[in-house]
Amino acid sequence: MGNAVEGKAGAIRYREACAEDGTAIGLLHTQCWLGYSPDRELANTIVSERLAIWRQRCTRHDPAMRLLLAESGDELVGFACALARRDPEFGSLLDNLHVAKAWQMQGIGSALLREVVTWSAELTPYDGLYLWLLPINRAAQTFYLRRGARELQAADALAAGHTSMLRYGWRRPASLLVKDC
Ligand SMILES: CC(C)(COP(=O)(O)OP(=O)(O)OC[C@H]1O[C@@H](n2cnc3c(N)ncnc32)[C@H](O)[C@@H]1OP(=O)(O)O)[C@@H](O)C(=O)NCCC(=O)NCCS
Repeated sequence: MGNAVEGKAGAIRYREACAEDGTAIGLLHTQCWLGYSPDRELANTIVSERLAIWRQRCTRHDPAMRLLLAESGDELVGFACALARRDPEFGSLLDNLHVAKAWQMQGIGSALLREVVTWSAELTPYDGLYLWLLPINRAAQTFYLRRGARELQAADALAAGHTSMLRYGWRRPASLLVKDC
C-alpha cells in the first residue's frame, strides 16, 4: 500500500485510510449512493449519516476492517471497505467499492478489489468474500461477474426504497489472484 500505480487513469495512489479521511469518503459515498436512490428527499439524511459513519470508521483501529483509498493527487477517486468474518457461511463482507463517475472504466475498481482480495486471502484464507448489490445496478453486476463472482442469494430489502438486494460473491476469493482481476 501507499504505492502509486501508473495505469489508464494516470498515476493513481493506493493507500490505507487514516483518521482525517472520513469527510472525503463520506462525500464520495453520498455521491455514489444518490445515483441509485429513487428518493431525493433522503439526500440530507444520507449525507449526514454517511459522514458520521466514515468519520467513525476512519478513527477506529480495527484489524478486521480494511479501508483503502485511490487518489489522483489530492482528489479521492475511489475507495473500498471490507470487514472480515461477517457471515459464518459467506465469509468476509466487501461493504463498499466505489469509484467516482468521472474515473470509472479505468481499472481503479479492479485494483481496489485486488487489494481487498489479497488482504482477505491472507487474513482468512478459507473464507469466502461477498457483497450486496441492488438489482438495478447492472454495471456492478457485470463488473463482479466478469471477475468470477456469482449471485449467491437474493434477500429482503436493506436499502430504503428498494425491494430486494442480491448477494454476490466468491466462495474462494483467492482464485481471483491467480487470474488477473
Ligand atoms: C462497479 C465499479 C466499482 C467498477 O469500478 P471501475 O473502476 O469502473 O472498474 P474497472 O475500470 O476496474 O473495470 C471496468 C469493468 O467494470 C464494468 N463496468 C464499470 N462501470 C460500468 C458501466 N457504467 N457500465 C457497464 N459496465 C461497467 C465493466 O465490466 C468493465 O469492463 P471489463 O469487465 O471489461 O473490464 C464502479 O463502476 C462504481 O463505483 N460503480 C458505482 C458504485 C457501485 O455500484 N459499487 C458496487 C456496489 S458496492
